[in-house]
Amino acid sequence: MTLLSLPTDILLSILVLLYPEDILLVSQTCRALHEYTLNDYLWHRILDSCRLPLDIPYVDPNHLPGPTLQAIVTRALRVDHNWRRPNPQIRKMTRLGDLDNVLQMQFIGSDWLVVLRRAPASLSVWRVANTDQPYRAALIDLPGPEFPLSFCAAMQMGGREVLIALISGTRSGTQLSAYSVSLKPQLDDDASAGPFTLPAPTVICRIDRQDSEGRFYEVHVCSHTIAVGIPQFVDHVLIPGAYRILIVNSTTRAQCLIDPGFAEVSSKLLFNIGRYLIFQQLAQLHFQVCARQLVLAAVRNQSTVVVRIHDLPAAIFNETTVNSKWSESLESPNAEYESSAISDVDYHLSANSMRNTTHISFVAFHSIFSIGNDVRVIYSTFDSHSLTCLDLGPSRQPPFACPFRTELGASPEIVSLGETGQRAVWLERRWSSDEYTLMKAAFSPNRTDGNDPVVVQPLFARHLALPFELHTCRSLAFEEATGRVSLALHTGELYILQF
Ligand SMILES: *[C@@H]1O[C@H](CO)[C@@H](O)[C@H](O)[C@H]1NC(C)=O
Ligand SMILES: *[C@@H]1O[C@H](CO)[C@@H](O)[C@H](O)[C@H]1NC(C)=O
Ligand SMILES: *[C@@H]1O[C@H](CO)[C@@H](O)[C@H](O)[C@H]1NC(C)=O
Ligand SMILES: *[C@@H]1O[C@H](CO)[C@@H](O)[C@H](O)[C@H]1NC(C)=O
Ligand SMILES: *[C@@H]1O[C@H](CO)[C@@H](O)[C@H](O)[C@H]1NC(C)=O
Repeated sequence: MTLLSLPTDILLSILVLLYPEDILLVSQTCRALHEYTLNDYLWHRILDSCRLPLDIPYVDPNHLPGPTLQAIVTRALRVDHNWRRPNPQIRKMTRLGDLDNVLQMQFIGSDWLVVLRRAPASLSVWRVANTDQPYRAALIDLPGPEFPLSFCAAMQMGGREVLIALISGTRSGTQLSAYSVSLKPQLDDDASAGPFTLPAPTVICRIDRQDSEGRFYEVHVCSHTIAVGIPQFVDHVLIPGAYRILIVNSTTRAQCLIDPGFAEVSSKLLFNIGRYLIFQQLAQLHFQVCARQLVLAAVRNQSTVVVRIHDLPAAIFNETTVNSKWSESLESPNAEYESSAISDVDYHLSANSMRNTTHISFVAFHSIFSIGNDVRVIYSTFDSHSLTCLDLGPSRQPPFACPFRTELGASPEIVSLGETGQRAVWLERRWSSDEYTLMKAAFSPNRTDGNDPVVVQPLFARHLALPFELHTCRSLAFEEATGRVSLALHTGELYILQF
């Protein structure tokens, strides 16, 4: 009996058990097997189990045919291979002209890059799908007296619109503004196709807050939900651990101010009064918003990272709450994790705001300068379907933790985590020589294919001649599925590197 004489369903159930790499090998053996390896069912099953970051267009993957999915997985394997090797090959380097004073950048999928500039204060959306001909697809000039601080953007409407939430400083406090920008990729991405008018952005909402009520400090967007964090003040003094998170539904403009209930979060900087120290204090509670969940991460008693996952208040999804404003406390968490014995300096949650996904991924990134620059990464994937059945047993350990060490005397300056948190890029500074290195990492929870669970290496070979110097880098963005890194420099140049 030969392989090909097996009934189709049996053959497919065998193929489903193979690694994607092996399926690609099988497809090269003969015409008949090649036909089988293009099967839609097969690739949907592989996509469900594939742990690699995938560059999927903004459509429901269930509607994509087998050959398209095969191409997506093949590309993901190629990026993975390149990313894990020492000194990965730079496949392309593109320069976007004259963009100085860049404060922050964010890739939205692999095709779009949002750039926030301080002067002239503006938000721009660049189409970078074809890196030979990147072009600016939208521009938002930011009004006068406000100065921009940070933003978060998310794709909507299956890729036809982007929602951008921006925090700005005003004369008396901070402001949250949300914009909707419609995106129409030009035919063939040919920027030379002639003049075209930039679409006017729509202002969805503006919310002002006086400084005495607490400054907006961190903003996240997922689908139509905007979440912005606010520390609480009494008589201009920060109350330790007292934060609020304002949730806004951009469709109904409903605003819900929630108490995340992290009252026990302490601050070692509480007794030092001063602007800089208060800023340090703000870094103590981070959060992310997902389709229907809010993920909170805080450091408790200066040594324990606590991660909690809560459902968003149900009323934020209710169409009867149009334009209404209310406050409520979060219900008890669906899941909670603790990681002990970490003395924190800095940590990050991966941004999961790009797609309509039921997965929440979380990476905490700690640098422990005091005891020799340990970096500890905790990686977990939470499936929101199973959240309520997670066992909150006594150990409460995160599902996957991979500590590693950076070089002695080096610390991460600008960190950019990928959307799923499986890859990261950061600018590392060596204090003794004042030398900067761009580092890359791959974290692979539960990889069964024999790859190392953690790979941390310089992104470039030391001898590589680059057209810029890393110490001039002021902002960094990273798109993990395609391995795109964008670097904005003090000199006003902006580079996109593709790996
Ligand atoms: C955290 O510190 C507070 C006060 O210092 C203490 O009461 C509490 O037990 C500590 N919590 C943990 C989990 O160690
Ligand atoms: C929405 O709110 C209204 C009024 O509070 C309530 O009657 C209704 O049950 C809510 N709908 C949902 C789906 O929760
Ligand atoms: C916003 O409100 C609309 C109308 O009720 C609802 O359909 C949608 O799910 C809400 N979206 C988010 C992300 O809160
Ligand atoms: C998000 O995904 C869920 C489940 O896959 C689906 O039911 C829902 O319609 C999607 N929402 C949007 C806005 O695409
Ligand atoms: C890793 O594998 C274990 C056991 O197979 C499973 O319980 C856990 O959910 C997996 N974790 C991830 C992040 O997939």
